[in-house]
Amino acid sequence: MRKFIVAGNWKMNGSLAANDALIAGILAGMPDSENVDLLICPPMPYLATAADKIAGSRLKLGAQTVSEHESGAYTGETAPSMLRDVGCEFVLVGHSERRALYGESAQAVAAKYVAAQSAGLIPVLCVGESLEERESGKTEQVVDEQLNAVLDSAGVATLANAVIAYEPVWAIGTGKTASPEQAQDVHEHIRRVVGELDETMASAVQILYGGSVKGDNAAGLFGKPDIDGGLIGGASLKSEDFLAIANAAAALG
Ligand code: 13P
Repeated sequence: MRKFIVAGNWKMNGSLAANDALIAGILAGMPDSENVDLLICPPMPYLATAADKIAGSRLKLGAQTVSEHESGAYTGETAPSMLRDVGCEFVLVGHSERRALYGESAQAVAAKYVAAQSAGLIPVLCVGESLEERESGKTEQVVDEQLNAVLDSAGVATLANAVIAYEPVWAIGTGKTASPEQAQDVHEHIRRVVGELDETMASAVQILYGGSVKGDNAAGLFGKPDIDGGLIGGASLKSEDFLAIANAAAALG
């Protein structure tokens, strides 16, 4: 049985005061369920403080991106070992905003995935198509290319220590959620592609859906057989909204 993960990607939002209130709210209302792991991904400057606030709780910590390099002359970058040092267990790699706004290539994403795992972090590999790609029937092709760029260089066995997130770009921050059926189709496809390489890995790997997940649509999405939770943007910034999604997962566990 795969556990659910409900992950909050805070993106470039927050402040010390706002984060304290948000974390306190989450800790106060977290579902006490063994079937759901909750994860928050605050901006870099707040990771260490967030780690202190969640110490001793079941809430987990992740970063939103990472360098593919271990150390050295890379001004502005953050090494995987630094994220471990401040208490991160997870890191997002290949979020569509990183790919689109910062020019992260499939190869760079693969390198980040490998570097993250080498430092003991669990990469959450984000894949997903644009609206134009969906409308021209290229969803599976795009997702395959993004996935295979990583699997070709890292190997399918590395999925034992990774999570996949399917985030259709057209559903991110737009209020247009993929329907549970649309999301399930792609999740099932991803599991089939992984299964062609390794059946065991395909049934074990957690695949999250992201893109306008809210309290009122989470249950429909998470009820699908290949959807193992969510990667939440906007609705992760208010504890009530985030907890409503977490509770939807807990109720299905
Ligand atoms: P929204 O939930 O705001 O659509 O963002 C999704 C996302 O990009 C999470 O990584």
